[in-house]
Amino acid sequence: MNAPPRSDAQPLAPPAVPAAEPGPTPGASLDEARFVAWLRQVAPYIHAFRGKTFVIGVPGELIHAGHLNTLVQDLSLLHAMGMRIVVAHGSRPQVNEQLRLRGVEPHYAEGLRITDSAALECAKEASGEIRLDLEAAFSQGLPNTPMAHSAVRVVSGNLVTARPVGIVDGVDYQQTGLVRKIDVQTIRFALNSGAIVLLSPLGYSPTGEAFNLSMEDVAASTATALDADKLIVLTAEGGITDADATLLREISEADAKRLLAADALTADAAFTLRHALRACEGGVARAHIIPFGLDGSVLLELFQHDGVGTMLVEETLEALREAGPDDVGGLLALLRPLEEDGTLVRRDRGLIEREIGNFTVIEHDGVIFGCAALYAFPEERIGEMAALAVNPAVQGRGDGERLLRRIEQRARAAGLNRLFVLTTRTMHWFLKRGFVVASVDQLPKARQGLYNWQRKSLVLIKHL
Ligand SMILES: CC(C)(COP(=O)(O)OP(=O)(O)OC[C@H]1O[C@@H](n2cnc3c(N)ncnc32)[C@H](O)[C@@H]1OP(=O)(O)O)[C@@H](O)C(=O)NCCC(=O)NCCS
Repeated sequence: MNAPPRSDAQPLAPPAVPAAEPGPTPGASLDEARFVAWLRQVAPYIHAFRGKTFVIGVPGELIHAGHLNTLVQDLSLLHAMGMRIVVAHGSRPQVNEQLRLRGVEPHYAEGLRITDSAALECAKEASGEIRLDLEAAFSQGLPNTPMAHSAVRVVSGNLVTARPVGIVDGVDYQQTGLVRKIDVQTIRFALNSGAIVLLSPLGYSPTGEAFNLSMEDVAASTATALDADKLIVLTAEGGITDADATLLREISEADAKRLLAADALTADAAFTLRHALRACEGGVARAHIIPFGLDGSVLLELFQHDGVGTMLVEETLEALREAGPDDVGGLLALLRPLEEDGTLVRRDRGLIEREIGNFTVIEHDGVIFGCAALYAFPEERIGEMAALAVNPAVQGRGDGERLLRRIEQRARAAGLNRLFVLTTRTMHWFLKRGFVVASVDQLPKARQGLYNWQRKSLVLIKHL
């Protein structure tokens, strides 16, 4: 029942008074107060991520576009904060450039490079050069730069065993390979000794041959083999978007499968997502796909609640899904105790039956453990999240957060740009999650008339 919230650092950055600017404290300027508030906000994430293993997929395109130095600075910072970092780099544009210089045409089949002996030489050359550039970048330590005092050691080597793709549908892919095995023991040893591990898209076979691999395969296979906490792949396109070009901030394995089956993604996005999905299916808790063109995107993804890319979440045994008629009994059983102690407003069976389509539920082995409902006011582009509840036996595991995320997703999909809740006892839970205090006259007109002045619920609103 371990359910992961979006930004997944369990302790969400909690501004005590979310809407307000930090006021200057005695002896501190406003800038100083903001800085201190900001640093304190990041602290829970640092605690949560210390000692965690992150595999970072760095495509050759990122290096080609000149983002290597800033990325290395950000990764050094993560390393300094105690995160265990493995970098898997790619080399596609660099190999193409080498081929161009030699006047050799690149060959592809089904989007995969056919690595003949000339292409393999180019791949070796490109990887060697990138490895040296990365090592040099991690070695910087000039004063007055983010790399001052960083002293990062980078370890690389023959850590990936490969096998040939072989002959598929009559096409001989020659020296193009797939990952067969990752030397987990040596990588762990290097990480334990405080080094960053660097993996090139080349693997070696027991016959002593080198094979050209994809960065995505190396990164996903390594994350799986290490049982990493995160796989983070940087791409030119960034996160996965839906048909309306809306960024999908969090998707499940089932969502990813649906997106891939619908065949609506670009070839590059589908390729990245397929590998991210493979990593999650292999036990990696979360796989992030983020844009490399956005300065600091790794930091923004990790240390901000909403992130800047798509987070693919490992499927747990429980299912988060929209409710159907069969769920009415389970919903009643979940909601009754909370209605009886006054936490939630009473809803009778008939009402729940009529409004079942508004509910999202979390089910585990046929039992409903959590729910929330969305009521849309399309004209005012606002929605109400109501009846948020998680079974007391499983509270505190992120299910409440998952339900909120799903309701936010449903609201965005319905064209809404704000979400409100009325609460008497759970104000702080919502404040921590981006809601701010509002007044009854900010509710949609139809809802104002139904406001229960005796209950005196607080109105909280979140911009989506
Ligand atoms: C509010 C509720 C849905 C949260 O569900 P959950 O699965 O426990 O939520 P999460 O695991 O995502 O979040 C747990 C965190 O919220 C905190 N929390 C739980 N209830 C809270 C409350 N009433 N006020 C403030 N914080 C609360 C927990 O202490 C925990 O904090 P931590 O992560 O710092 O330890 C659940 O507590 C519940 O069903 N409460 C009763 C019904 C209710 O109040 N619904 C809201 C009606 S508007």
